[in-house]
Amino acid sequence: MPKKNPMINKQLAHRTIREFKNQEVSKEIFTTLMDVARRTATSNGMQSYSILHITDPVIQKAISEICNQEYIARSPVLLIFIVDQFRNNAIIREKGGKTQNAGDMDRFIQGFTDASIAAQNVVNAAEALDLGTNYLGSTLNDPEKLCEILKLPKLTFPVVGLRIGYPNQDPQLKPRLSNRMQVFENAYQIFNSYLEEIEDYDQEMTNYYDLRNANQRVDCFSDQVVSKTSNSILKRQEILKAVKKQGFQVE
Ligand SMILES: Cc1cc2nc3c(=O)[nH]c(=O)nc-3n(C[C@H](O)[C@H](O)[C@H](O)COP(=O)(O)O)c2cc1C
Repeated sequence: MPKKNPMINKQLAHRTIREFKNQEVSKEIFTTLMDVARRTATSNGMQSYSILHITDPVIQKAISEICNQEYIARSPVLLIFIVDQFRNNAIIREKGGKTQNAGDMDRFIQGFTDASIAAQNVVNAAEALDLGTNYLGSTLNDPEKLCEILKLPKLTFPVVGLRIGYPNQDPQLKPRLSNRMQVFENAYQIFNSYLEEIEDYDQEMTNYYDLRNANQRVDCFSDQVVSKTSNSILKRQEILKAVKKQGFQVE
């Protein structure tokens, strides 16, 4: 029965949308999406994330260059979700409290988790309204530069970008691993041969045309795992350095 639920139907139909119509997302819808973010569960009730709404075309362009994805400069809505311990640290200071833990690993993870789940709540709400969404992890291609562009103060850090707009493409659902490979009861399950277990999935992936990417066939999943784990972008190997530069003590 749950599949008859309209919200779940939308979630089961999720596809990343990278091309949007030249149609504005109304202020009313934008405010609703931000209200949904605000209502999201938050670690300890601390709300230690913020959202930057990037409306300036010059900044959109600068972000698209960091991400090396030209379509980012054409974003009807572009959001950057950030860890934000700056605000609570300021509150502690004004209260005369102790600030020594404000930038520790625990606080960083709290903010990172808060920002991530708020972003996904916005995705769900946007898709419920027939909007398309596109996460941007490529914002981490050069986090130091992004912090500079966004004038992010200490104790903040960009987690993920999100584009939202009215879809101008209708891609296929991208195949996923089976639940058997990812959902375990009580204890982690290790398989004898992963390549054997995912043989069908590998085949399914090679049959999947990525319409969003010039109608190209994509590599099978196992080939993608190998190639995408090579981490060829230099600055992405130095993310921890950027996190520390933002004032977090995350040894
Ligand atoms: C954390 C995260 C980062 C992502 N980064 C990017 C990105 O930088 N650029 C992009 O076009 N898509 C990005 N995506 C979208 C993924 O490529 C997409 O979700 C994945 O290929 C599965 O396709 P689907 O969402 O259509 O099912 C990201 C997704 C997530 C969850």
